[in-house]
Amino acid sequence: MALESLQLLKKIQEWHLGIDRKMPWKETLDPYKIWISEVILQQTQVAQGLKYYHRFLAAFPTVQALADASEAEVMKQWEGLGYYRRAKNLHIAAQQIVEKHQGRFPINFEDVLALRGIGDYTASAICSFAYDQPYPAIDSNVERIFSRYFGIELKKSSASLKQAIKQIVGTPFKKVKSAGELNQALIDFGALVCKSKTAHCDHCPLQESCYAYANDQVYNLPIKSAKKSKQERYFHYSILKSENQIWISERRASDIWLGLHEFYLDELATKTDLEESKTRAFQNIVRTKCFRKLYKQELTHRRIFALFTLYELAAVQEIKHGSWVPLEELNSKTFPGVIRLFLDENMHNFIC
Ligand code: ADE
Repeated sequence: MALESLQLLKKIQEWHLGIDRKMPWKETLDPYKIWISEVILQQTQVAQGLKYYHRFLAAFPTVQALADASEAEVMKQWEGLGYYRRAKNLHIAAQQIVEKHQGRFPINFEDVLALRGIGDYTASAICSFAYDQPYPAIDSNVERIFSRYFGIELKKSSASLKQAIKQIVGTPFKKVKSAGELNQALIDFGALVCKSKTAHCDHCPLQESCYAYANDQVYNLPIKSAKKSKQERYFHYSILKSENQIWISERRASDIWLGLHEFYLDELATKTDLEESKTRAFQNIVRTKCFRKLYKQELTHRRIFALFTLYELAAVQEIKHGSWVPLEELNSKTFPGVIRLFLDENMHNFIC
């Protein structure tokens, strides 16, 4: 029989006492640092997130420092993490904290939730970890535990599943000793035991009373949405170089990489079109260098293929929506992963 929800929560807390999973954001009560860690971890594995966490806080140690930075500086620190809207939102929210809360991170849950980019999960995580307020932080790992344990047959990441879980744990959450510690216990339990693809049911302290385990439903709960196939896109980048200057532009399309830099882009309809794409007729071309290697970047809903051609031009020319920058400045600009990868491998070849 299923444990009562309070007993269940206490059992997970008990399990957590024996767990030594050290992470820097667990050792602080500073809401700013907790906020940054939670936003980084939203779409990033812990191992990769750690590096960015330290780097970001070294660059912007306080809310005020983040608010005072330029958007370009914030984006640069985020380069390679993806989902760049997260970085933009952090920047805007830091400015909101300065304007509305005199630079002090708000304490009230509703005030935290009102900040740009902060949803129910992040507000709950911050308020429980920093201030021990009794809000359950229900992310995909945590919803998996409850969905399996109680046999809740609702869709993964749906509002109805989160609501059902809140109904179950909302009141008991107020009765445990430390809500922050409980949220951390749940996150760790989802990451280490009740895992998505390789659940450790054999070592699970809840095995005896888990609905999914008893009914052979562990990998069917929560209910997964049908997988959408990825949209493929084919980008031919023309790198225009004149003397020591390179032409770059800021991406304005809101589909992907808004605000990041790129080279002159032609988008093609198919992979074959990309592979067979001809060089372009820019004015005053002195030399053309085709890089035949096709680069690829996987995003959550898209797969990007990119091909690059370098054009040496006799003189800089006015091209709309971009500017010429010295070659040495390219490393200080923020590019999508696929372009950064290309640059890391080939920039030494740009010099004639
Ligand atoms: N993922 C999201 N938040 C986390 C946290 N506080 N600890 C470990 N992994 C997490």
